[in-house]
Amino acid sequence: MRTLIAYAGKTGNTAKCARKLAIHLNQVTLVDLNAEVVNPKDFDAVIVASPVYSHKFERSVGSFLKKYQEILQTKPFAAFVTMVEYDSFTKVIKKEIAEPLRKKAVAIANFGGEVNNLTPFNWHDKIIAKSIIKLESKKHPIEFLPEAEKQFVAQLNKVEWI
Ligand SMILES: Cc1cc2nc3c(=O)[nH]c(=O)nc-3n(C[C@H](O)[C@H](O)[C@H](O)COP(=O)(O)O)c2cc1C
Repeated sequence: MRTLIAYAGKTGNTAKCARKLAIHLNQVTLVDLNAEVVNPKDFDAVIVASPVYSHKFERSVGSFLKKYQEILQTKPFAAFVTMVEYDSFTKVIKKEIAEPLRKKAVAIANFGGEVNNLTPFNWHDKIIAKSIIKLESKKHPIEFLPEAEKQFVAQLNKVEWI
């Protein structure tokens, strides 16, 4: 199965997770939607990956999902996010992934995330990021979730994606 992993991000977390996931797949093509254009029609299956910033997907990922919704509905589809505000996961997914795609998805998961690099952000976003970390770190460690990735791969395995 020719799988497209279409991802984007600002500080490399989502890219890192996408590359790790790709190791489990055959015939995989990784495309950074902030750098390249890709049409999912050329693939048999698609995994979309985005960070969450201010409760939204990276813009290029949101645009990709909207533009190709109809094509994506005809193929095996899965998605993951990297984020630190776990309580808002369901709400963000509901907002960013159209219902028909959500319903048919093989897996939709939160792989966790870290906030190590604030260089790309302006002072306002830096303050927001610090306050998110302060709040969330009282609830759980700010880290990647290897178990979520393992479970995601298991879900792909179940439908013989891999
Ligand atoms: C300015 C800023 C805003 C963020 N906003 C959110 C948010 O609204 N919800 C959330 O769960 N995580 C939020 N995060 C955490 C990021 O989603 C997380 O660090 C993600 O893994 C970044 O992915 P990337 O390195 O691929 O860009 C924010 C991080 C920063 C720096």
